Amino acid sequence: MVERIPNPSREERDRALERAHYNLFNLRSDEVRVDLLTDSGTGAMSDRQWAALMLGDESYAGSRNFAHFEETVRSLTGFPYVVPAHQGRAAENLLFSSVCRPGSVVPNNMHFDTTQAHVVHQGATPVNLAVAEAYDPESDFPFKGNVDLVALEKLLTEAGPEKVPVVMVTITNNTGGGQPVSLENFRGVARIAGAHHVPVYLDMCRWAENSFLVREREPGMSGKTIPEIGRAFFDLAAGATMSAKKDGLVNIGGFVATRDERLAERLKEALILYEGFPTYGGLARRDLEAISVGLIEATDLDFLAHRIGQVRYLAALLQEAGVPFFHPVGGHGVYLDVRRFLPHLGDDDLPGQALVVELYREGGVRAVEVGSLMFGKSAGGPSRSLELVRLAIPRRVYSASHLAYVADVVGRVYARRAAVRGMRMVYRPERLPHFTAHFAPK
Ligand code: F0G
Repeated sequence: MVERIPNPSREERDRALERAHYNLFNLRSDEVRVDLLTDSGTGAMSDRQWAALMLGDESYAGSRNFAHFEETVRSLTGFPYVVPAHQGRAAENLLFSSVCRPGSVVPNNMHFDTTQAHVVHQGATPVNLAVAEAYDPESDFPFKGNVDLVALEKLLTEAGPEKVPVVMVTITNNTGGGQPVSLENFRGVARIAGAHHVPVYLDMCRWAENSFLVREREPGMSGKTIPEIGRAFFDLAAGATMSAKKDGLVNIGGFVATRDERLAERLKEALILYEGFPTYGGLARRDLEAISVGLIEATDLDFLAHRIGQVRYLAALLQEAGVPFFHPVGGHGVYLDVRRFLPHLGDDDLPGQALVVELYREGGVRAVEVGSLMFGKSAGGPSRSLELVRLAIPRRVYSASHLAYVADVVGRVYARRAAVRGMRMVYRPERLPHFTAHFAPK
């Protein structure tokens, strides 16, 4: 597919920012030159996926597309029960509404925004237990997604299995820079949680990217395929939630998969209430067919080398320009290190929001704040010490020249960084404020 790339003028961008109340989620896509807001559902489907859509069997119950989808998820993960959902947060809602109670505690390496919000929505408390290196943007530790096993053991001992319905581990750790979790660390998580009789669930949105980084970085893994590495993780888990908008290479879709038959029955009851019948889960059946193809394509080593190569290419250009970013670069984007980028601003100045506004103003590049706005006190989650801006790269969409353009824009804002002013929030919604809040320059 070829799309025209919009090229709004400086005046048009200034006007768009004002109209959007300085929240880039309020921009129209034709006001954006290069859109790095998210890698979620924004990728391009392949010829085979488009062909798969034509095989849609839109039966309400028992569609053959569901049978293929179920078989694909089972063969990749080994989880026998597969419950489709329209996207990741719907899968989160199904799982957390089925296992959490008010007062529950849910540990994770780091919760992403909707995961955290769904835990809070159940009256439960999200706790982030990533290793200390995860909070140091300059450390080159290869597995910054890892869980602090001592802290996990302590939490499970103190809270006990009655209070902790599930231990979550997010691969890769999106909130902390798209960083991988090592298989060795995940084995430790499974051992500790198992000793406390608490099931471990993977948030497996970017499991293929995690497997690629494990293959590169973990001793003894370089000879293995992506499905083999993924399976080594899944074999240690009780189940998983998935947003197929990431490593399913589709524009919409997701699922919960589990080994627990009784839980699967409860998930299906909630599914019928909120999403749809268990053989379509809020999706067109043809979409399930495209997911079945995408899940396999996402494990292709050439694809992953290109994808993660794009992230590294952008990082190398930024490095040349002296721009500070989170090290080492992870799976799906480059995360700018806002505290070093804008050292004259404090957290109360919403520096990440100030930076995304300037990137748009400078060159029509749309990025997203992953800092005190997305995860601050008003979001109801654990206290946070990372202040990042994510340049997420959609899958199979942009070329090297687009990324060179982005690096140029970021470099120009970096050159005039001392003049960047802070922002304040002028309208604060109660939940997930970053999506709909209004801002004004300080
Ligand atoms: N878990 C993780 C780790 C995610 O990154 C996301 C979405 C979700 C769950 C929820 O999935 O969007 O399909 O409902 N992340 C997107 C992002 C939105 O921009 O990183 P969803």
